[in-house]
Amino acid sequence: MEVDLSKQLQGSLKVKELGLHTHFFDKIESTQDRALSMAQNDSHSKHGTVIIAEEQSAGRGRKGKKWISPRGGLWMSIILQPKFGSRKISLLQFIGALAVGDSILEMTDIICTHKWPNDILIQGKKVCGILVDVNFEGDKGGTVVVGIGLNANFSTQELFNSGTFEGCFDVTTLRDILKHDIELNDMTRLIIEKLEYYYLLLEDGKTGEIIESWKRGSEIFGQKVTVKDGDNILYGRALGLDDFGALLITLVDGSVKKVLFGEVSVSYDV
Ligand code: BTN
Repeated sequence: MEVDLSKQLQGSLKVKELGLHTHFFDKIESTQDRALSMAQNDSHSKHGTVIIAEEQSAGRGRKGKKWISPRGGLWMSIILQPKFGSRKISLLQFIGALAVGDSILEMTDIICTHKWPNDILIQGKKVCGILVDVNFEGDKGGTVVVGIGLNANFSTQELFNSGTFEGCFDVTTLRDILKHDIELNDMTRLIIEKLEYYYLLLEDGKTGEIIESWKRGSEIFGQKVTVKDGDNILYGRALGLDDFGALLITLVDGSVKKVLFGEVSVSYDV
């Protein structure tokens, strides 16, 4: 069922292109899947359309993982039709993370950290994940959907209690940290506005600024790290990011390896 909070949000948004069309749902399977199908089938769903649900019954995360999405969270997907070529698409996950981190700071004074490539952490625990689905043909363009899942007005205990969630130790919520709830509509508005700010930087070719801002929020650079990608495990020291967000690791033999995928953690035993 689509609910009519759209007008409220749209009335308050200060934007040029993102969030001019919004669809609110009480409960749907996944805002990401809805956005993808809207982008494919509905000619009215154009660049900047935002899909928000109060609850998702089949939210999904990266690598096909389930994303538990109870009421109280911020579950949102944004349809983008970038004018830039496919090489910059990888930076969309970084601008999503920057938009969320900046919004949390502005609304709550909490400083988040970034975990490569697209997690947002508070006190070392994941509070938000970004999912980017791409339907892009080289430089011919296409559609990208940026999904944002922010654990806000529920506790991790509630996730435990749902009996379906296994990774609670590494997860947190804004309610756990703040001990009170936030105004979700305000947070949604802030995130869309800041996403647009970073998106326009990206369109303007200011990728260096995006990478530097993201790096400032990360604690891994200069540290010994372990990168796991399936059965592949890499040990080294996090050196930096390349212009498109790939992680650069200095290996034990001094060579530099570019990492495109994987789970990074700081390692104390190398
Ligand atoms: C991750 O694995 O860290 C990414 C999680 C992304 C979850 C969000 S919630 C809104 C949107 N709809 C989905 O089904 N997934 C994304």
